[in-house]
Amino acid sequence: MAIPCVKTIREMRSSISAARREGRSVGLVPTMGALHEGHLSLIRRARSENGLVVVSVFVNPTQFDDRRDLDAYPRDLATDSRLAAEAGADLLFSPEVTEMYPPGFSTWVEVTGLTERLCGASRPGHFRGVCTVVAKLLTICAPDRAYFGEKDFQQLAVISRMVRDLNLPVDIVACPTVREPDGLALSSRNARLTEAERAQAPVLFRALSAARQAVEEGERDPVALAQLVVGLIREAPLADIDYVEVVDAVRLEPLERLEGRCLIAVAVRFGGTRLIDNVVVDVPGGERA
Ligand code: PAJ
Repeated sequence: MAIPCVKTIREMRSSISAARREGRSVGLVPTMGALHEGHLSLIRRARSENGLVVVSVFVNPTQFDDRRDLDAYPRDLATDSRLAAEAGADLLFSPEVTEMYPPGFSTWVEVTGLTERLCGASRPGHFRGVCTVVAKLLTICAPDRAYFGEKDFQQLAVISRMVRDLNLPVDIVACPTVREPDGLALSSRNARLTEAERAQAPVLFRALSAARQAVEEGERDPVALAQLVVGLIREAPLADIDYVEVVDAVRLEPLERLEGRCLIAVAVRFGGTRLIDNVVVDVPGGERA
């Protein structure tokens, strides 16, 4: 099964206009390709809620802080097209870099505050690249809804803030993290793990699950929780912790005590591969705006 692959912004706009004239709503699933079950769950959700489902496949150079990471990013449009079609997509949007960033490009979208902690601290400029490309995709495709995974929780929070702050007329739909049977969150980066690293990688979700259980059993001290997670991850000898953070799930700011919606997020390196994961816990008794 194959679906049309649109390469230009002009053609994309006319496809969207045609769908609109037929009265179809539009759902957009932004991706960088190398589609796996995590992406496909977003596409299926979009299929169930929209008349036209567009999947963008664009390896966005401006969000990579490491050139080698960008060069090594897997690209296989034929397979992505087949997988996206099977999951219910109608159209692929896969522009060249020069289509999205023509010579002289000089406008950036930057969300402050939220982007300074967690992944923002170790990946300078990353979220500026993400916000800029997502803002462009949203204005090009003008979807009713756009779908993002909770696996990249900070990205979801930053994009939601951008949409709110810039009054972009789109609903951001958050989709749950899809995991391997052993708990490892699906990611295109998992393929880069050696056999030994892959065997130890489920420690992330094991540690996060233990933290969630501790909260359920009454733990309210963020420092103690972070220590619990660090201790469990350190039991995997190949794991090199980038961060373990317990923060407010809306502002992504540190907490003195767990209250309301809280995010426990980790980033861990296995050799050259950086993995991230998180869980959200709802602590009764405190409501946050
Ligand atoms: P990419 O890493 O390809 O991810 C595309 C979307 O799939 C994101 O919303 C991400 O959160 C979601 N996703 C990835 N793994 C998932 C999993 N295991 N379960 C559920 N959802 C998952 O994120 C990006 O691309 C880019 O930053 C992008 C938003 C496309 C901007 O360039």
